[in-house]
Amino acid sequence: MDSKIKDLNEKLAQAYLGGGQNRIDKQHEKKKLTARERVNYLLDEGSFEEIGALVTHRTKDFGMEKQQFYGDGVVTGYGTINGRLVYVFAQDFTVFGGSLSETHAEKICKVMDLAVKVGAPIIGLNDSGGARIQEGVRSLGGYADIFYKNVQASGVIPQISAIMGPCAGGAVYSPAMTDFTLMVEDTSYMFVTGPNVVKTVTNETVTSEELGGASTHSTKSGVTHKTSANDIACLEDIKKLLSYLPQNNTTSPPLLPFELKEELRDALSHIIPDNANKPYDMHLVISGIIDADSFYEIHKDYAENIIVGFARLGGRSIGIVANQPQFLAGVLDVNSSKKAARFVRFCDAFNIPLLVLEDVPGFLPGTDQEWNGIIVHGAKLLYAFSEATVPRVTVITRKAYGGAYDVMNSKHIGADMNFAWPSAEIAVMGAKGAAEIIFKNEIKSADNPEQKWKEKEAEYAELFANPYSASERGFIDEVILPKDTRRKLIKAFSMLENKEVDRPKRKHGNIPL
Ligand code: HXC
Repeated sequence: MDSKIKDLNEKLAQAYLGGGQNRIDKQHEKKKLTARERVNYLLDEGSFEEIGALVTHRTKDFGMEKQQFYGDGVVTGYGTINGRLVYVFAQDFTVFGGSLSETHAEKICKVMDLAVKVGAPIIGLNDSGGARIQEGVRSLGGYADIFYKNVQASGVIPQISAIMGPCAGGAVYSPAMTDFTLMVEDTSYMFVTGPNVVKTVTNETVTSEELGGASTHSTKSGVTHKTSANDIACLEDIKKLLSYLPQNNTTSPPLLPFELKEELRDALSHIIPDNANKPYDMHLVISGIIDADSFYEIHKDYAENIIVGFARLGGRSIGIVANQPQFLAGVLDVNSSKKAARFVRFCDAFNIPLLVLEDVPGFLPGTDQEWNGIIVHGAKLLYAFSEATVPRVTVITRKAYGGAYDVMNSKHIGADMNFAWPSAEIAVMGAKGAAEIIFKNEIKSADNPEQKWKEKEAEYAELFANPYSASERGFIDEVILPKDTRRKLIKAFSMLENKEVDRPKRKHGNIPL
């Protein structure tokens, strides 16, 4: 028995070394942790249980039978984060560049299957040269098996991907089908075809970083939801993100202990400028409402005219969607509609109540927007809110104009509680434009058209640039003081806790994609 135990220990020691000390040193030189270091940092100390440490590939071509590394380039297993069960796979760049073989894919599929059966999140730490070139179609099949399982798991368990090295070719599609993709700045990139292929096909000269680095995907494409300065920061971001999420779609996110005291936040009364055309930072409203320092922003640098993210309100995890008057006056456009729609659908799939903070002058006009399909993308957000059955509460802080009023979680599309501040303006359009259209003839024939226009603008503003016309009809449930907002929202979400909505039976809806 002693010699058998020794034999096992030797094999495991070899497995723990991955592709060997030289390659581990190279990984460190690139300021990257190894797969095992990442897993150990991510999970609670001592909680990791490995599955498949001794798996090896089955390829005989290109002399591969002589090149065997235990684990075959991916570390898989389960453990806990803050005491909660998670499944994890971490690609090991020191073994064939973390490339994906048939057996490597089987290992990932095994933990994905377990995660779905048990109902716990799966986290993938990606660091890979893509398909194992020596394995050809067997590797492509392995990728497709993972893609298929990503889709089956979607909306059932949270799926989180971290890109912590190269991620090229079809490999990018598994992260893209998970719920959140985080990227490490300067050491990770994602693209379907790399700079060499781009040069050959389009004659463009571009670096890996420009083409698919973290800053590109966080600002231009929106492919990544969050970027982190280094491996450790990225792993910390994953832990924090998980704290807002439930284990699966049948449970709720953890509720932190909370006692409601008389909480008035007077600073909220002084955020809205006197001049309705002046911007302000909606982050101030968010931080004035939520539990201290609890905002976790998603897609921070992409489509900044809308803010989305998780927060805690009275200890409860909520999703926030808020127009940002500081960028493009907070209009809805193609990118902000897509960004918000995806976030709303995630929250709805995972029982996270939604808070909407609204200050929106409308949809962005122009050929660029129309030709890029603002109709269909705006419809995504409208569809996403209309379909959501989680508790939904809106606060209109200032403008709620035109179609955007309907879209931004209005009463008419199923919101449960709709509040407005006294500064709210709820109308088809701004008073100036409205007066110009409906009093066109009167203004034209007046002795002083400019003066007449001003009078009519004031008349329209008096009637509609306030929350009262909407509240008379019950479209607004209550006009509230800014300083009361936090208390009102805590009580509203608590009241809505047991909300249930039945939908007619159907296979799935047809969201405008
Ligand atoms: C097998 C690979 C590999 C791969 C890297 N390696 N990629 N082995 N299959 N795809 C091996 C290298 O031979 C090397 O082995 C080790 O990993 C490290 O690679 P280096 O090139 O030395 O590292 P680096 O300079 O950091 O460059 C990393 C890299 C580069 C940019 C990822 O290796 C690269 O371009 N690899 C190929 C990428 C690619 O074209 N993949 C296929 C994409 S298509 P040794 O023994 O020297 O340590 C695809 C289709 C999927 O993925 C479709 C799914 C639908």
